Amino acid sequence: MSETLIHEAARRFTATFGDLPAGTVFVPGRVNLIGEHVDYNDGLVLPMTVREGTAVSWARADHAHISIRAADLGESDHFASSEPPRPHDTSWRSYVRGMVAELGLPADAGVDMLVHGNLPRGSGLSSSASFCVALGRALNDALGLGLDAISLAKAAQRTEHEWAGVACGIMDQVAVAAGNAGRALLLDCRDLAMQQFALPPDWAVAIVDSGVTRGLVDGEYNSRREQCEKAARKLGLASLRDADRGSLDNANLSALEYKRALHVVDEITRVRRASEAIAASDLEAMTCVLREGHVSLRDLFEVSVPLVDRLVEAVDDILKERGAARMTGAGFGGSIVVVLERAALPELQQALDRPVRPVF
Ligand code: GLA
Repeated sequence: MSETLIHEAARRFTATFGDLPAGTVFVPGRVNLIGEHVDYNDGLVLPMTVREGTAVSWARADHAHISIRAADLGESDHFASSEPPRPHDTSWRSYVRGMVAELGLPADAGVDMLVHGNLPRGSGLSSSASFCVALGRALNDALGLGLDAISLAKAAQRTEHEWAGVACGIMDQVAVAAGNAGRALLLDCRDLAMQQFALPPDWAVAIVDSGVTRGLVDGEYNSRREQCEKAARKLGLASLRDADRGSLDNANLSALEYKRALHVVDEITRVRRASEAIAASDLEAMTCVLREGHVSLRDLFEVSVPLVDRLVEAVDDILKERGAARMTGAGFGGSIVVVLERAALPELQQALDRPVRPVF
């Protein structure tokens, strides 16, 4: 899949800029197995990369500008690299200009780029993190900036915060910058410590797009973060990472803050349980964790939507004890992730009325 994308990006670069690119980078999207809405609470998450992603072809240019073609949108942008102007909206241009600003390029940097990707936007698979980190990697290669994966991930997160107005955590950016195909990445969002887990060969991971595109939900996302931060302050903690069920009962939390905080505390435990289940090839334990995780996002964190709930139920009904599904990503639509017995994949693909795309 990534080879086709890389080849196509290079071909379109030549058609646009009249010359071969000097390089092409590919950065995948991610699916989160478990650990939702805990990254900005300094928690643990367990994402893995997907096959789809973003390819960026690049070449140095003898002008001090960034010239970029968003091939899939049929749009272009061109601006002085020393001072990226702020666009008036939060379109793809915000991400490009944000990354250029946040990476702090040399004043005379001139780079031509072409972007081509196949991650559906708003499907909960981190298309914007993939886009930003791919741009960062292309600029890094073009200009010899010497930045590592974590620096690129942090620049991409700052771009979301400062240029797109989304107060996201760090999970997506690190997952796409440092993750490996076929391995779950246990990431501690407090100190960015990482551990990779190979998935048992008789398991499969698949994604199903609910078809509900995330709409104008950045406000909802930011408000969840504020509610968590408020709960942590009331508990006298730097973040909910340090809270436990007992401390929640003794604090003066509103009913809403209690629900949000309870989700975070239990979800961090679920990430540990899921990592143990993977290490022990215990699909039964993994199934329980995923089911509990979805219910918590639906009832306590309130970020699911009825159509996604029905899709999760339909998958769980088909699989029974052979795996489970849950919403993945920020919520309010997007995709569900399914972890299942590999042998049950064809049956699920046949029984469900939507495409089931294997990730691993
Ligand atoms: C979005 C954000 C992440 C994370 C998830 C929810 O994908 O970008 O930082 O908070 O939602 O787990």
